[in-house]
Amino acid sequence: MILVVILVTLHLCVTGLAVTQCPASCACYNDYTTVDCSQRGLTAVPRLSNLTVRLYLDGNAITTLPDGAFRGLPQLGVLNLQDNDLREVNTTSFGHLPNLQQLYLGGNEITTFTVTDEGPAYTRLQELEIHGNQLREIPLNLSRFAPNLETLDLSRNHIKSCRLDDSFAGMYVLRQVDLHGNQIRGIEDADFAALAWPVMLKSLNLAGCDLFHISDLAFSMMANLTFLSLAENQLSWQNLEHVFHAMGNESRLLQLYLQHVPLYNISTALLESFVHLQTLDLSYCYSTHIEQEVFDNLPSLEILRLEGNAFRELGNITVLTSLRELYLHDNQLSTVNLRGLETLQVVDLSRNRFVHLPEHWLTDTNVMHSLNLSRNAITTIHNAAFHKVSLHTLDLSYNRLHVLHSYGLLTMRRLLLSHNLLSRATEDALNSMHTLIQELDLSHNRFTTFPRYILDDFFALQRLDLSSNQLGSALKDGRLTGLFHSLTHLQVLHLCSNNITKIPHSQFRYLHHLTTLYIHSNNIRDLAEVSLDDLKSLSKLDASQNRLSMVDITVLKKLQYLEVVDFSDNPYDCSCGLPPYVRWLNATVVTVLHLSERNRYLCSLPTNLAGRNILTIKHSRETCPKRHYVHDLVLLGIVVASVVGVVVLVVLVFYFGKICRKLKSWQYKWQVRYREVSGVELTVDSTD
Ligand SMILES: *[C@@H]1O[C@H](CO)[C@@H](O)[C@H](O)[C@H]1NC(C)=O
Ligand SMILES: *[C@@H]1O[C@H](CO)[C@@H](O)[C@H](O)[C@H]1NC(C)=O
Ligand SMILES: *[C@@H]1O[C@H](CO)[C@@H](O)[C@H](O)[C@H]1NC(C)=O
Ligand SMILES: *[C@@H]1O[C@H](CO)[C@@H](O)[C@H](O)[C@H]1NC(C)=O
Ligand SMILES: *[C@@H]1O[C@H](CO)[C@@H](O)[C@H](O)[C@H]1NC(C)=O
Ligand SMILES: *[C@@H]1O[C@H](CO)[C@@H](O)[C@H](O)[C@H]1NC(C)=O
Ligand SMILES: *[C@@H]1O[C@H](CO)[C@@H](O)[C@H](O)[C@H]1NC(C)=O
Ligand SMILES: *[C@@H]1O[C@H](CO)[C@@H](O)[C@H](O)[C@H]1NC(C)=O
Ligand SMILES: *[C@@H]1O[C@H](CO)[C@@H](O)[C@H](O)[C@H]1NC(C)=O
Ligand SMILES: *[C@@H]1O[C@H](CO)[C@@H](O)[C@H](O)[C@H]1NC(C)=O
Repeated sequence: MILVVILVTLHLCVTGLAVTQCPASCACYNDYTTVDCSQRGLTAVPRLSNLTVRLYLDGNAITTLPDGAFRGLPQLGVLNLQDNDLREVNTTSFGHLPNLQQLYLGGNEITTFTVTDEGPAYTRLQELEIHGNQLREIPLNLSRFAPNLETLDLSRNHIKSCRLDDSFAGMYVLRQVDLHGNQIRGIEDADFAALAWPVMLKSLNLAGCDLFHISDLAFSMMANLTFLSLAENQLSWQNLEHVFHAMGNESRLLQLYLQHVPLYNISTALLESFVHLQTLDLSYCYSTHIEQEVFDNLPSLEILRLEGNAFRELGNITVLTSLRELYLHDNQLSTVNLRGLETLQVVDLSRNRFVHLPEHWLTDTNVMHSLNLSRNAITTIHNAAFHKVSLHTLDLSYNRLHVLHSYGLLTMRRLLLSHNLLSRATEDALNSMHTLIQELDLSHNRFTTFPRYILDDFFALQRLDLSSNQLGSALKDGRLTGLFHSLTHLQVLHLCSNNITKIPHSQFRYLHHLTTLYIHSNNIRDLAEVSLDDLKSLSKLDASQNRLSMVDITVLKKLQYLEVVDFSDNPYDCSCGLPPYVRWLNATVVTVLHLSERNRYLCSLPTNLAGRNILTIKHSRETCPKRHYVHDLVLLGIVVASVVGVVVLVVLVFYFGKICRKLKSWQYKWQVRYREVSGVELTVDSTD
């Protein structure tokens, strides 16, 4: 009994305590150690329990941090004050937080971050983020506050100089400094000189800082740097050549980002210090020229970005024996030699000037799986162009191919051939790839028909785009009836803009998994003519921009999984036949696209209603033209007349039947009378 009382009291104690542990407007987790007060419209820091370890106050409207706002939080490790309205912050406000490791102040209006002389140092603080504020300078005396800082993010402020004050000499483990998006303009030799020796800095981001000039020795002490971004600045290759040279041949740089720097010339000397480089981004550098030997010194390079320049040819990139990804789009290349790049996986050559793909240009690129050749001017492809390549994705869209041939591509998953001039495919064009291919895009070509067996056994195909061809009459005539019969896993089929009027029954017979059908922009007059009955899984149907004068809702009612339809921009006939459809539109749970737009579902007939929205038509007797009643009356007349006719006929038959029998009977009696002598027939018809 006593035990029970004790337990109950204990329980009450714990729950009673619990209420005070968590601030009223916040949510608390993990035994009150995580306190989530984000986005609650708070204007001040709430009272917190001394158990708090992680405190999220982001997305509120806190403007100041009064002294002692965080008093008595000995365990606080993470303090997130992002996206508030803080303006002037001093370190006194944080009080004594002996365990603080991460302090996030991004997205405020902070103009000054003052390190005061009071209070102890935050020796555990590793990460300080003040990005996206109004700072005009790098905070002074920072090591007084955070001597063991590892990451300092001051990006997107209004900092004009990256001169580090002497206090940085006391920050021995500083590894990352992010200053991108400031307005630094120039960097002097002395700016980073204060960094503690040995310099452990690994990552320096100075992208988008309006830099015009960097002094030669500015980075000379940064031999341990592995990440450097100077992207989006107005630096010249001559300037950078000197700066990089001063970093010495012992540099450990792994990632170098120089995109959108107007280099014009990519010289060998520029990059020769960086023998360990793995990622190099030289995209959009206004370069026309790249020296032959540039790549000789980069044996470890894995990702190379050279897109958006004006290269007509490249140096010998086959020396890059570790290359995995190569981005060369938006250049002026008409040839490139990729032979023997055994580690290459992804290549983007789109938007260049290829006209012909030669034989064996990809030989020994054994692991390449994605190749983009979109938007070139390719007219011919050698039979052996893709010999022994195991591509998964090949984009040949926006070229000038006329005939689709087989290139022996065995492992294709996605083949994209839209926007060519294809009007013909050879019988075996797609044969080899049938087992794995999932997406085939032949849209925006000139196909009028296909060889009969071209998609046979394409069991894995999920998306097929045949839109904007001229398949309408072949479909109508049944010449393509078997085309989709293997496509049992097809989910999405595009047949728009094909001048389709009719799709015969059995065209869609085996498309059991088709969920989405696009047949917009055709010439379909009656939805019952396009054989939707077989599409048991259809959930999305787009039949907009056709010639439908009404929609037969019996067709729609058979599609039990329908979720979204689009029947906009059809010339509806708002005579008496439309009400069932309009009622369906008004009541259905199916999402009808564009229905709420005023000009998308309009009557085009009868002429007195043309241009009216079909939902606004009142289908009363008055709006139904008379001729329909006349028509109905005529029908009724014919039916009644026929019934009367039949009745008369029956009566006549019956009547004449009687007369006949009477005649027969007279004849019989006459016969009997004359044959009595012979004694052959003696009985007389009893019905008489
Ligand atoms: C929190 O405060 C309570 C009472 O004031 C005290 O008993 C407890 O030890 C404190 N806990 C910590 C972790 O400081
Ligand atoms: C720190 O800031 C708070 C509030 O902004 C202010 O009350 C306090 O006087 C400041 N302390 C110092 C030392 O600047
Ligand atoms: C930096 O700290 C030192 C010693 O703590 C102090 O003498 C100096 O005035 C401080 N400088 C600034 C700019 O606050
Ligand atoms: C780079 O870091 C190592 C320790 O990892 C250190 O010994 C060396 O002196 C540093 N290099 C420079 C140039 O500071
Ligand atoms: C780096 O340059 C020094 C002389 O400047 C040379 O002795 C050393 O061999 C070079 N090291 C490498 C790895 O090239
Ligand atoms: C490119 O730079 C090299 C020196 O690094 C120089 O010899 C060459 O003339 C430059 N080319 C152009 C086109 O500026
Ligand atoms: C390109 O480099 C490879 C490997 O170093 C070499 O075998 C080949 O001859 C070079 N090709 C040209 C055109 O310089
Ligand atoms: C190929 O490149 C074009 C243009 O650069 C791009 O639009 C397209 O998405 C790329 N294709 C693939 C499959 O990534
Ligand atoms: C569309 O098909 C109809 C017959 O089905 C044909 O008369 C018409 O010319 C075709 N239109 C175009 C643009 O091919
Ligand atoms: C649509 O339904 C609402 C009620 O569900 C009804 O008031 C309205 O008149 C209907 N509109 C048409 C065009 O049928």
